[in-house]
Amino acid sequence: MTYASSFALSPLPSTVTLESRMSSPESGPPASLDDVKGWFPKIDQSLFTWFLERQDRLGETGDLVELGSYLGKSAILMGRHTRDGETFTVCDLFDSEASDHSNQEEMARSYSSLTRTAFETNYLAFHDRLPQIVQGPTSMILDHVQPGSCRFVHVDASHLYEHVHGDIRAAHVMLPTGGVIVCDDYRSEHTPGVSAAVWEAVTVDGLRPICITPQKFYGTWGDIGPFQKDLLNWLEKQEDVWHEVQQVAGQELVRIKQKPASKPKKDDQVRKLKARLAEAEERRAQAEDRLAGARKELGAVRNSVSFKVGRKATALPRAIRGKRK
Ligand SMILES: C[S@@+](CC[C@H](N)C(=O)[O-])C[C@H]1O[C@@H](n2cnc3c(N)ncnc32)[C@H](O)[C@@H]1O
Repeated sequence: MTYASSFALSPLPSTVTLESRMSSPESGPPASLDDVKGWFPKIDQSLFTWFLERQDRLGETGDLVELGSYLGKSAILMGRHTRDGETFTVCDLFDSEASDHSNQEEMARSYSSLTRTAFETNYLAFHDRLPQIVQGPTSMILDHVQPGSCRFVHVDASHLYEHVHGDIRAAHVMLPTGGVIVCDDYRSEHTPGVSAAVWEAVTVDGLRPICITPQKFYGTWGDIGPFQKDLLNWLEKQEDVWHEVQQVAGQELVRIKQKPASKPKKDDQVRKLKARLAEAEERRAQAEDRLAGARKELGAVRNSVSFKVGRKATALPRAIRGKRK
């Protein structure tokens, strides 16, 4: 069981599974996080939970911010960790116009079905009240969130360099030194602008990578040592999560991936039995082919002239032998 699956994100707590799945927002309120369309892999659900619960354990307080919420998949999980006295702010254009042409094209290409109402419906299926919603470009986030007031910021809005660069700078302002920033799509072939902005923040702006998954980058402007020590301890106990530690430019970086789901044992047995049955059937078909071939050969020999002549020539001796018996 993963960390994320150990708590309820569903109106029906005991039945929650957090597999990533795409489903239509038009099909009514979601019953579990799986039913919410979005881009939030299971391993990142587990890691968000781990980082946010660690802050809880250590008594670290502060607000949460998400830049780019789409239909609420990651926001719903983050909202679960907002405590009394803390504010969770999401910022998204939703159905508003973007401020520049490239961003508008990106919106039309990737998020055309998005509406604020759909986000709100999804969110309220899991929470009693909405987060603070800033509907507009992320460039206005600092008008709504105080410097140094946050403990966790998820950067997942526009994936164009100029926007991501600005979003990471805003996150640096919103987070105190030990706060956590997560950047989405830091390595995808279709989002080179995010890669450029993230690694620029690392090399120029002092952002320190804690860990990476196939889709997300987790970092801090604080000390990565305590994060990585606790994380490695936790990872050792996760049977369904793979990890390794790499040295990158003199610093340790933890690489994390979900292991492919192992099939249940029963399935495995059925698969093996089916394979054995198929082999046995193949052997039987081959034996039947050989038998048919032998019968044909025998028929051909019986009908051959030399066989018939031979039978005639040996007919008398065979008859005498038969009488003697
Ligand atoms: C990749 S989606 C977010 C996915 C979401 N976090 C999830 O887990 O499913 C990106 C979102 O960013 C929003 N967006 C794009 N450009 C934006 C901008 N300049 N300012 C605010 N939001 C923006 C889009 O409307 C879209 O909802």
